[in-house]
Order: sequence, then structure tokens, then C-alpha cells
Amino acid sequence: VSIEGFVRSLPKVELHLHLEGAVSASTFADLAARNGVALPDDKQPTDLYNYGNLPDFLRIYDLVCASIRDSGDFSRVTFEALERCALAGARYVELFFSPHAHLAHGVAYSTMLEGILDGVRRAKDAHGLAARLIPAHSRELGPEQGERFLDMVLTERVPEVIGIGLDYNEAPYPPAPFAALWDRARSAGLNVTAHAGESGPAAFVRDSIDLLGVSRIDHGYHVVDDADLVQRCRESRIPFTCCPSTTLATTVWRDLASPDHAIRRMIEAGLNVTIHSDDPPMFGTTLDREYALIARNFGLSPESLGGIALQGLHASWLDPETKRRWL
Ligand code: HPA
Ligand code: ZN
Repeated sequence: VSIEGFVRSLPKVELHLHLEGAVSASTFADLAARNGVALPDDKQPTDLYNYGNLPDFLRIYDLVCASIRDSGDFSRVTFEALERCALAGARYVELFFSPHAHLAHGVAYSTMLEGILDGVRRAKDAHGLAARLIPAHSRELGPEQGERFLDMVLTERVPEVIGIGLDYNEAPYPPAPFAALWDRARSAGLNVTAHAGESGPAAFVRDSIDLLGVSRIDHGYHVVDDADLVQRCRESRIPFTCCPSTTLATTVWRDLASPDHAIRRMIEAGLNVTIHSDDPPMFGTTLDREYALIARNFGLSPESLGGIALQGLHASWLDPETKRRWL
């Protein structure tokens, strides 16, 4: 069996996937036309799914967000995203979504939840795939608006919402100002994570751990710039949810074949790396392809690939009993 066949059949968890980044170009075209969202320069969605850096990507991501309006739209994009995960061999998904990007267009949080939960139920029925939700706060909006975000998440709390994330343009927006907010979320019983070290420095990874108290780091690549932090992270076993294709579009590591690629160095340093797909159609990939990319470029054995999938299960926010039943 080929590496591609092996990694597809390997049972996997998807912990770093953004709902709005998981909309195919054809569904984006359809929703944008129906909901009156104009595409820049008369471009087609397939041409738009092409970026030079993180802010470039986020501009298109916001357009996709704007094209998702009613609960039926949310159900559709959720079902389609989860169906692609199931076909890639995922068994369980923790799915980010971006409430602020829809609130900006007058879409109520309850409408988002209703549609997304309907899509989750349909994917469970059709493919046996389980999914939970992680509303993510845009760090660009700052901590005060973050308090309103958390108020909303807690006031309209549902069991499927198991944690919160911090994302969007990283380098100009350090994690430290969000310390009190992340503390409040943890006190309310939510799991917490944060994007860090994607375009921001190693210090943002360290501060996300020390000041935000995250139980995992999304991306984390710039950890390799700080040898002491690498050693701490190796000892603490904190998971890094890495996304190979994202590095090629938004980071300084654009060559997966290079021995200097951050994910390769993180694995070689013994860090707890898990592999995910972030915004798969927008980066032209799928979860199984992300595994195949590192397998081929880093020369990983089937045993290491199985180990990475298992690290994903352990890094998830499933309860210990469910994790045990899986094994
Ligand atoms: N980084 C920051 N924000 C995001 C990303 C990402 O990779 N994907 C969706 N929002
Ligand atoms: Zn992400």
C-alpha cells in the first residue's frame, strides 16, 4: 500500500480546522452569488484561493465568511467540511469558527450555532464522524471585545462548544493582553488554545503557554528559534497543532523538502507535533494529504505516522474515558 493509502486509512483526529476556511471554491462561488457578495476584480473563487502571506489570506477568508448568511448556509458548509474530513479518514473533529466575521454582517450567534449544529448532526448520521466546536476570537479586535465574545459564548452555551481559540493576524497582536480573558474562560470550564508562532516570534508561543494557560498551541513554528523553550515544551509535552500546507502560504518556511523546515525540526527535537489541515480548500489540501506531505518530505515511517495520529487523539479535548475506549 502507498503512503497515501496508509495515511488515508489511519484513524485521525482533526484539531485545527477553520469552518470558514473549509469552504470549497465552488460552494463559495454559489453562496457569494446567492447572498450578493461581490468578488474583487471580477475574479473567480479558484483564482482568489491564492495568497502571499497571512494578511492576504485573511482578506479572502473574510469574504468567504461574508458569503455565509443563514442557518442553511452554515449547515451546508459544516456538512461539506466534515464530509471531506470523513473521506480523509478523520474520526473526530474540533472545529474552529469565527463569530465576529458573521456578527459584522448582522448574523446572530444563535443562527450560526443552529446551522453548524445541524451540519454536525448530518455529518454524524452520514459518516459516523463526531465533531465539537471552538469559537475563535480575532486577536485583531483586542481583549475588551474579547470579553463581549466570551459573554456571548457563555450566555448561549451549548455542550458542543468545548473551548475557545485566538486567531487572525498574529505578528502585530501579542497574546499578553488576553491573559485575564483566557483565565476567565478557563475558570468557566472552557478549554483554551491560541494560534502562536505562525507569523509571531517564539516569545508569543511562550507567553501563550505562561500567560494564557493554553493546553495546546496552534501552529507554533517559531518555537524552533528558542532552544530553551524547545526543551521546556519537549518536557511538558504540550501539543503543537501543525499544518504543513499553511506554512507554505503564510510563514517563512516555504519548502517542505528543506532540512530547516520548522515542522521537521520540531519533530526531530521530540516535540509533541500533531498534523492538521487548517483551511484545506483555501490551501489546496486535505487532512490525509497533510500527513502524506510530511511522510514523503521528512521520510517518516508508518510507525511515526501512527504515533503522530495517536498524539492527535491525546491532544484532543475528548474526556479520558472516551480516549481510552478509542485505543
Ligand atoms: N492563522 C490565523 N488565523 C487564521 C488561520 C491561520 O492559519 N486560519 C484561519 N484563521
Ligand atoms: Zn488556524
